[in-house]
Amino acid sequence: MFMRARILTFGNEKGGAGKSTVAMHVAVHLLHQGMRVAFIDLDLRQRTLARFFSSRLTWARARAVAIPHAAEPFLHDKPATLLEVPQMQAKMAFDRALDEAVQTADFVIIDTPGGDHVLSRRAHAAAHLIITPMNDSFIDFDLLGEVDPVTLDVKRPSIYAETVWNSRKQRVRWDGRSIEWIVLRNRLAAHEARNRKRVDERVAALGKRVGFRVLAGLRDRVIYRELFPFGLTVQDLSPEIRPVAVSIAHISARQELRALMLSLGLEAGDDVAAPCLADTGS
Ligand SMILES: Nc1ncnc2c1ncn2[C@@H]1O[C@H](COP(=O)(O)OP(=O)(O)OP(=O)(O)O)[C@@H](O)[C@H]1O
Ligand SMILES: [Mg+2]
Repeated sequence: MFMRARILTFGNEKGGAGKSTVAMHVAVHLLHQGMRVAFIDLDLRQRTLARFFSSRLTWARARAVAIPHAAEPFLHDKPATLLEVPQMQAKMAFDRALDEAVQTADFVIIDTPGGDHVLSRRAHAAAHLIITPMNDSFIDFDLLGEVDPVTLDVKRPSIYAETVWNSRKQRVRWDGRSIEWIVLRNRLAAHEARNRKRVDERVAALGKRVGFRVLAGLRDRVIYRELFPFGLTVQDLSPEIRPVAVSIAHISARQELRALMLSLGLEAGDDVAAPCLADTGS
């Protein structure tokens, strides 16, 4: 089956790497481009992305303003229940939601939790593109690759790189297709040149080895977190939606997001193959 929807899975087993933050900014950017966006929040307990979009609806209704919105296919009336049911049942709920999403959207945004979970693995294997935000820190790098403590040379891929590798193998078994993987540097500090350079070099070396592209990503900016309770991002700020004085920081953030979207190279239009998820496996 061919379709227009591209499935973007935001993943990193490291908690707090910026998966939900980047997912909501990418989703809002695409919405403002006139794309139809659906989202599935697999962080079944925190539900950060779902909370963001529900606050967005509340804000729009309260202010009687039109804000582009993403659709959420039905997953479960109490999503956290899926953590307790047999795996096959959880997979079926996810597959149904994904199927509904790909029928109606140009982009399907899947946010995954920190840690490892069967649905998270399934969402990785179903993706056209995996986007992995990563803080500018060797603690975050440790889940991607192990470095030699003396030389800091990359010794071997580690746990999350293996998860992606297994997802790629699973996908080949399902339908013979490949999955693109992008690692995106997040929360870059304005002044931390030495550490950043060290991490940059290791990420680049590992990317060549295990097959991901590295993007400069996002600086650490208050504006990327302060609008969350309203269900808005800096891309939404306008006299109609939320009138605030436009600052240099806002303009820089918008430019940074535009650059990120350009380098992600997401173009709707061409049909892509729908993933062919089998009943068994991840
Ligand atoms: N570029 C950024 N600038 C400023 N704050 C950021 C940025 N990226 C993320 N944050 C903040 O860092 C924290 C973690 O981000 P987020 O919740 O998006 O990570 P996560 O990977 O989804 O975490 P979890 O694994 O718990 O789901 C949040 O407080 C968020 O507001
Ligand atoms: Mg999250």
